[in-house]
Parts: sequence; structure tokens; C-alpha cells
Amino acid sequence: MGSYVDSVTSSSSPASLVNSSPLTAPELSDDGFEIHRLPSPLGDRPSDSAEFILVIGGLGYIGSHTVLELLREGHNVLIIDNLSNSYESVMHNIQILTASHCKQKGVPVPLLHFHRLDYRSRSMRLLLESYSNLVMTINAAGQQTMTYRSRIVGVIHFAAHKSVVESITTPLQYYQNNVCGLVSLLQTLDQYGIYNFIFSSSATVYGAKANQGLPLREEDLVHHPESYIDKSGHSVVLQPSVTGLSSPYARTKYFAEAILADVAAANPAWRIVALRYFNPVGCDPSGLLGESPRGEATNLYPVLTQVLMGARPRLNVFGSDWATRDGTAIRDFIHVLDVARGHISALAWNDRAKRHDNSFRAFNLGSGNGATVLEAVQSLEAVAGREIPLSWTGRRPGDVGSCVASTERARTELGWSPRENLVQCAADLWNFVRKAGLDSTGKV
Ligand SMILES: NC(=O)c1ccc[n+]([C@@H]2O[C@H](COP(=O)([O-])OP(=O)(O)OC[C@H]3O[C@@H](n4cnc5c(N)ncnc54)[C@H](O)[C@@H]3O)[C@@H](O)[C@H]2O)c1
Repeated sequence: MGSYVDSVTSSSSPASLVNSSPLTAPELSDDGFEIHRLPSPLGDRPSDSAEFILVIGGLGYIGSHTVLELLREGHNVLIIDNLSNSYESVMHNIQILTASHCKQKGVPVPLLHFHRLDYRSRSMRLLLESYSNLVMTINAAGQQTMTYRSRIVGVIHFAAHKSVVESITTPLQYYQNNVCGLVSLLQTLDQYGIYNFIFSSSATVYGAKANQGLPLREEDLVHHPESYIDKSGHSVVLQPSVTGLSSPYARTKYFAEAILADVAAANPAWRIVALRYFNPVGCDPSGLLGESPRGEATNLYPVLTQVLMGARPRLNVFGSDWATRDGTAIRDFIHVLDVARGHISALAWNDRAKRHDNSFRAFNLGSGNGATVLEAVQSLEAVAGREIPLSWTGRRPGDVGSCVASTERARTELGWSPRENLVQCAADLWNFVRKAGLDSTGKV
């Protein structure tokens, strides 16, 4: 039976990655990034045949829930995270939840490895090497050559900076992490023959299309000409075009998708899925995992959590004059566990790649149902049993009145559809606030 271990051992791995002290004295790689790892609780070592899903940014909000779902589905997982916006305690909670799940189901506990590492570090190559076997192959000219066969069978890339507001003041930091980092990562993966790639994109890539007030379809943003059968059965050729990308953050996601589409077009060995998340909210019902950013919270639900905790006096509502049922903006809230399951469907889609010829494909992950900001607030007030103070302010530049996903492509091609609703999101979030002892009002 497997267990939770950190994989890098002195015998199988580069010395620069070995660090026996748990998160106290990080080593510095030659390019200045910290290298750190959790200790192996049971001292196990991975076998040379175990296959892994690499999850980059796997201790963050969406990443941690996805890692949990992967483990619950029996996948071995290798997490890389530099903890710039997360905490190592998340790893411990993932371990607890997985162990409990596996005990209940009577199934073996998959392997879970963690490396505290910046994914832009040159040490990534050394790490990937330690998850590869050198095998002899015969090339087209009939000669024997040695090539890497990686035990990493899929990569899910969450690591990025994600604050729209911050991206406006520090755009280079955003382009460096979200775009330049991605390019280097793809080169490194290519070197190790790892071509199964899932990318965290965002509904923000639709730019001004969101202003049309219609559900956003993946066809509304393509990176290469694509043909599409419309509702009346006519074939339409879609051309790449986007306007109204409202922030450097939005542009990083757009550029990243465009790069991925180009890479896939150039080499069909790649199987790349871009998942365009709408508004992920909620958390695992256990209350052990949630959204606890190190930086300032800017998304609606983390801010609501802080208001409930007493850490903020009130919620700023941006705009009460949108053309919606109560005047507040409409968003497509989607439970983070549904988003997590979407990644497992995307990995399965890539595994079926031979049966379709899309080396790059984008999918929306949204509920398809819009809720207003006020409805979201009310759902949380109902479970918390208390009023959330509001402050009414004007519209924020770059905001749109309504942003809702079309879920048809994800449903028909990925076989994915959401299971949870807004009430469940609110109940799970409130449970997280209570379990984490975050409520500073003393009422719980
Ligand atoms: N949360 C949302 O509402 C939302 C919506 C659309 C898209 N996304 C995208 O989904 C992804 C995950 O979002 P999240 O909400 O989980 O964010 P998050 O900040 O909670 O998680 C990102 C994780 O990546 C890590 N990280 C960042 N840069 C890194 C680097 N250079 N090397 C190693 N680790 C690094 C952080 O420490 C963090 O643990 C991001 O790419 C984000 O842009 C999020």
C-alpha cells in the first residue's frame, strides 16, 4: 500500500533538491529560488514504476481541491508549489481527507509528493529527471538512442498570479509568472516527453464578448480559424479575434491560451486543454480545505468570508444599476469541487485524444446559471444566520453586468456537468469558516 511521502531521496535525486529539515531552512537553487520539501512521514520511497499527475500550484485554492479529487480517484500526485499564495498546512489537510476517504472505501492510499519549488526554477529540470526513466529506443534510422520516459502522465498547471487589481500595478510580475514561466515550462516538459497538459484559464479571456449579455460559448474565442455548426445547422468558420481584455491579468490568460494553441498546432503530440473557469466558490464539505490567500482577498467569496469573520467591516458592492433583476452584477458561481472534477474529465479527454483530432481544446467550467451579487450574499446570510453589512459603491472599471457560461461543450464533449448549487457553496463555505475557527465574532 502506498502512503504519503516526499519523493526526493538522496540516492535517486539531484543533491540540490534534498533537504531533510521540514520547511525550516530552505536551500537556494543556483538561480536564487527557494527549494524546500515536506519530510516523509513514513519514510517510504516511490517505486520506479509509479505514475504521477504533476499539479503545479497544487496547494492553492482550486489546486488543493483538485489534488484531493485526484487522490480520491486513485491517482498518485506530485505537487509543486512555492507557497507564494498558500500554506504548507494545506498539504496536511489533504493527507487527512485522503486517508479518511481511502479507509472508508477500503482502498490503498495513493502516493502524494510535495516539493516547495518555484516552477520557473531551473531545478524543475532536475526534478522532472528524477521522475523519468532512461529507456532505449530505436529511431527512424534504425539506431539505438536513449530517451526519457517520464512517469508524469499528466500536468495540471494552476500556478499564476491572479489578482486583476494587482496586475494593473505590477504587470511585469504577472507577465513573468503567468506567461514567461509557462513558455519555459512547456520547453522543459517537451524535453522530458510530457505532453498531456491542462491549463487554468478564465472567463476573463472573453473580454468585451461578456457585455453581450448572452451565455459565453467557447466558440466566442478561438485562437486559430475553427469551423462550427450553428443552431440552424450551417457551418460557420470562426476567426480569432478578441477585444476588451480589461487588465494585464486577462491578457496573461489570453496570451497563455494563444501560446498553447500554437504549440499544439506545431506538434500534435501535445494534448492540451484550457479550462475557462467562471467564478469558483465554496469548498470541500469537510471544512478542512478552503480559500485562504496570503495576499489581499479580492474575489467576492473570500471577501464575504472576511466580513463574516469580522476582519472587514462590510462588503463593497460595485454597481446597483446593472440591467439585472436586482441591479447588481450577475456572475456564474461554480462549486470548486465541480471545477476540480472538471480537471479529471479533462485528463480523460486527453487520454481519448486519438479519437478526436483536437490537440488544443478550450472548455468552460461554469454552472450555466447566473446569480446576482445580492443573491450570493443572501445565500451566505441564510446559512450564517446573520446579516452581511453592505456598502454601495459605483461600478468598477472593467466590470461587466453579466457573465454566464454556456456549458454545452463541456457537457457533450467532456461528459462533465456541475453537481452542486449556490446553496451548497454557501453551506460549505460557512462550514469552512467555522471549522477553521475563523469566526472572530465569538458567535459560533
Ligand atoms: N479563483 C478564481 O476565481 C479563478 C478564476 C479563473 C481562473 N483562475 C486561475 O486558476 C488558477 C488557480 O487559481 P487559485 O484561485 O487556486 O489561485 P491560488 O493563488 O489559490 O493558487 C495558486 C497557487 O500557485 C502557487 N504559485 C504561484 N506562482 C507560483 C510559482 N511561480 N511557482 C510555484 N507555485 C506558484 C501559489 O503559491 C498558490 O498555491 C490560477 O491560474 C488562476 O489564474 C482562478
